[in-house]
Amino acid sequence: SILIIDFGSQVTQLIARRVREAGVYSEIIPFNSAAEKLKDFDPSGIILSGGPASVIGDETPRAPDEVFTMGVPVLGICYGQQTMCAQLGGKVEAPDHREFGRAPIDIADDCDLFEGVWEKGSRDEVWMSHGDRVVDIPDGFSVVITSDGAPFAGIADESRHFYGVQFHPEVVHTPRGAALLSNFVHKICGLAGDWTMAAFKDQAIAAIRKQVGDGKVICGLSGGVDSSVVAVLIHEAIGDQLTCVYVDNGLMRTGESEQVVRVFRDKYNIPLIHADASEQFLGELEGVDDPETKRKIIGRIFIEVFDAEAGKVGGAEFLAQGTLYPDVIESVSFAGGPSVTIKSHHNVGGLPDRMNLKLVEPLRELFKDEVRDLGRELGMASELVDRHPFPGPGLAIRVPGAISRERLEILRKADVIYLDEIRKAGLYDEIWQAFAVLLPVRTVGVMGDNRTYDYVCALRAVTSTDGMTADYYPFSHEFLGRVSTRIINEVIGINRVVYDTTSKPPGTIEWE
Ligand code: XMP
Repeated sequence: SILIIDFGSQVTQLIARRVREAGVYSEIIPFNSAAEKLKDFDPSGIILSGGPASVIGDETPRAPDEVFTMGVPVLGICYGQQTMCAQLGGKVEAPDHREFGRAPIDIADDCDLFEGVWEKGSRDEVWMSHGDRVVDIPDGFSVVITSDGAPFAGIADESRHFYGVQFHPEVVHTPRGAALLSNFVHKICGLAGDWTMAAFKDQAIAAIRKQVGDGKVICGLSGGVDSSVVAVLIHEAIGDQLTCVYVDNGLMRTGESEQVVRVFRDKYNIPLIHADASEQFLGELEGVDDPETKRKIIGRIFIEVFDAEAGKVGGAEFLAQGTLYPDVIESVSFAGGPSVTIKSHHNVGGLPDRMNLKLVEPLRELFKDEVRDLGRELGMASELVDRHPFPGPGLAIRVPGAISRERLEILRKADVIYLDEIRKAGLYDEIWQAFAVLLPVRTVGVMGDNRTYDYVCALRAVTSTDGMTADYYPFSHEFLGRVSTRIINEVIGINRVVYDTTSKPPGTIEWE
């Protein structure tokens, strides 16, 4: 296994992900508790992450000295390279300019770290991000990679198997970076690469049992991929010490609430409280048209209902959440200050503080696609794990303008037809998210011999890898025509259908 010592980089978790992709188990440990961990962990290799600190100064983060004396290969990345140099007798200075972003590198010498990836004399592009830089390398090291801004972009002491790179091999902007990390773990550390998601599952289950003991856990289930996987995983770990609470806000798609209740109660036998608060939600939302006000109302009622239902469980000490790694990164503020709120996502945060429960977050290290893999590993059906993301405020933010039960019902009918056609065409899994939006605009039409004056329905479908950026999905005109005809013929209240061709940015995925 590989131990990753974390110096606080925004992308440390990506190192773990790349190592997992290479089929090797890894753990991340903060630099200040690494010394203890080294005693019982017995790693086959160590990676020192990047970090925001400067190695210049007295009280700067350091790797435990044992890292360099225990005889295992060490790879230092960015700050990790700098501290390795500083600790082994090299010299690091603050340069007159910092370097961020794509940069060309030159391979100055062959090295077992990138054997088969780069060879002497070749050039490639990498992602650099550093303040300080190495100016003098420790004894035993030689320079193997150079770049304009960092003459010591890559250094190696092949006899001790110590390597340092100034750039970030873990990010996708370093195209050959994954290959370099794979070389490190396989060829240099000699690990087989036979670790799998099945092993992750077993470890996660063991960790949940250890954390929870015989305590009770409550889990808010939404029917989405993340909370569903959390619920099934925790149930597998601790059985009926888990109770799920499904807050029904009356803003789900057709048939979805029934489906969630059926699947979790009947198929998985998970104790589930179906808190049907739809009357309260719809009552308070009636006539509300401002998107952020909609979110605030929904967020508040959700917390009230969840809190009350969870209270009835009695003696629960833990709250399970489907926090993913991107939520963890986003919640850490960047040096440039907190980012601007474009939309307030109510289901992130709020709950734990108020309820005074300890968090169980078994997906904290995973990315969405890995959560799906874990779900499959748990034997969950594609219907659950491959489901498109669905926003916490549900259909409330898909009826721009004033919310009414009537408009929600019209939207549901159009949405079902749209998704039905997408599934029939075999396109569901190619699309990140697809949904209908009911505009608060009426237009004139003619059906048979009669004038109609009805709502406009907008269709949205995007591709994306993380929801942060997105492209509209290029449906064929024939497909769009078919969906449009069906919606207008089958849904009373809609007489015009349009397709949204906005990407994100500048648009967002949802309309509100
Ligand atoms: P946007 O619309 O910001 O959406 O491009 C990005 C992703 O987030 C979802 N979304 C939300 N999810 N509460 C949520 O839980 C919200 O208020 C919310 N608003 C948008 C959206 O569906 C997409 O997956």
